[in-house]
Amino acid sequence: MLPGLVSPLRPVAPGIRRPDYAATGEPSDRAARAVRTADEIEAMRVAGRVAADALVTVGAAVRPGITTDELDEIGHEAMVAAGAYPSTLNYRGYPKSLCSSVNEVICHGIPDSRRLVEGDIVNLDVTAYIEGVHGDTSATFLVGEVDDRSAELVATTRAAMRAGIDVVRPGARIFEIGRAIEAVALPRGFSIVREFIGHGIGDQFHTSLQIPHYYDPRNDTVLLPGMTFTIEPMVNVGARTLEMWDDGWTVVTRDLQRSAQFEHTVLVTTDGVEILTLPTDGVPAEERFARPELVVEPTGQDPGS
Ligand code: MF3
Ligand code: CO
Ligand code: CO
Repeated sequence: MLPGLVSPLRPVAPGIRRPDYAATGEPSDRAARAVRTADEIEAMRVAGRVAADALVTVGAAVRPGITTDELDEIGHEAMVAAGAYPSTLNYRGYPKSLCSSVNEVICHGIPDSRRLVEGDIVNLDVTAYIEGVHGDTSATFLVGEVDDRSAELVATTRAAMRAGIDVVRPGARIFEIGRAIEAVALPRGFSIVREFIGHGIGDQFHTSLQIPHYYDPRNDTVLLPGMTFTIEPMVNVGARTLEMWDDGWTVVTRDLQRSAQFEHTVLVTTDGVEILTLPTDGVPAEERFARPELVVEPTGQDPGS
């Protein structure tokens, strides 16, 4: 991948509520509570739905020949039409309304003039701010036919995210999430990125709550009802070592082998977990656009073994 041209900032209508960093680029460093109020949770269902609907809309537009800037425009318009501010816009100076991470780009790829080509994989990461809270979700899409290892990478990463979500319940410890993700990804020969992790989310985009996607027994924080955070594993075909482009955002694998990612925002309920980033019709992007023959079971076991 090479950097392309980045288009000018897209406007957001003045009637749309903006997060604290929208003008300055710097989020305030207020301490965030780990447990959300009932009103915040209700609002996060709205923000999650708006982000997920926008992700479905941009995912449907993925095809050979479209530029990632055009995908950004589609995502931007979907969010503002729903009354939301695209959370990434000017977040710490980030210039676009979503992240588009193609092939060896691990995360935070900036939409630009590059056209997708058949065989690419692209993660689109959409975050919406509405009613004072954020919803954050992403999926990796296949552009036409892709090689078998890329398809396996994407299916495995999706299953790994699912396995991480499935261990979330009150009383569970945070390290169980990474352990479940590893159990899916590592036996298939993939590596897991450590430098970028899931995060608490609510009235702030990123709170201090840390959700590693690898097994870290020191992170034994107990999950409580009302906690909201993301699970967003980045899984690589080759080594987990990464590098950053000079743009200060685009994170790539050092060996230039491919990387995939899926993300949901989740809520710890009184008896389990609720995915907050589901679209209006309840069918998430990763389910709509999956190739059925490529689904990997989220158990860590090979279906055939
Ligand atoms: N949506 C990303 C996440 O999952 C964060 C993007 S921040 C940006 O946490 F500044 F790069 F847009
Ligand atoms: Co996130
Ligand atoms: Co995200």
